[in-house]
Amino acid sequence: MTGCSVAMTQSVHFSSATNEWATPQALFDKLNTTWQFDIDVCATPENAKCSRYFTQADDGLSQPWAPYTCWMNPPYGRAIKHWIKKAYEESLQGATVVCLIPSRTDTAYWHDYVMKGDIEFIRGRLKFGDAKNSAPFPSAIVVFRRSLSLPDGV
Ligand SMILES: C[S@@+](CC[C@H](N)C(=O)[O-])C[C@H]1O[C@@H](n2cnc3c(N)ncnc32)[C@H](O)[C@@H]1O
Repeated sequence: MTGCSVAMTQSVHFSSATNEWATPQALFDKLNTTWQFDIDVCATPENAKCSRYFTQADDGLSQPWAPYTCWMNPPYGRAIKHWIKKAYEESLQGATVVCLIPSRTDTAYWHDYVMKGDIEFIRGRLKFGDAKNSAPFPSAIVVFRRSLSLPDGV
């Protein structure tokens, strides 16, 4: 793995974290108990959920993610489709990628990629970062499990 930053301190919630749609810590902690993530593939030093993470300067999209167990709460702009495609493709290379994404079930990327994963729709609306109010959109957890590279016929 190249270009991986290492957090020197615990994650800190700044007010700007809300604009970044930072994952609610309790939700992350619950998922991390199950998955024990190796790396947060899109983060800043302030909002990284794992001690190993990629920042915009590293460009997580151009880094290899396999064979790691990855946490992905991607940027929610137009680039989200590239992150979801990458998550799916890295799972074919041996990564497991657990994603927190808006439930946009009408999008092409949802039909092309998300529906290849295991989807759990979140009941209600999340409060991201240090927000007092709930998000204006529903969310889902999507898991792209690593493909097992078994020899033919096994
Ligand atoms: C929705 S926030 C998630 C933050 C944090 N990982 C979490 O789960 O709370 C998405 C993050 O992706 C970062 N980001 C944007 N472009 C990136 C890139 N090309 N590579 C890595 N991170 C990127 C943003 O700075 C932002 O902090």
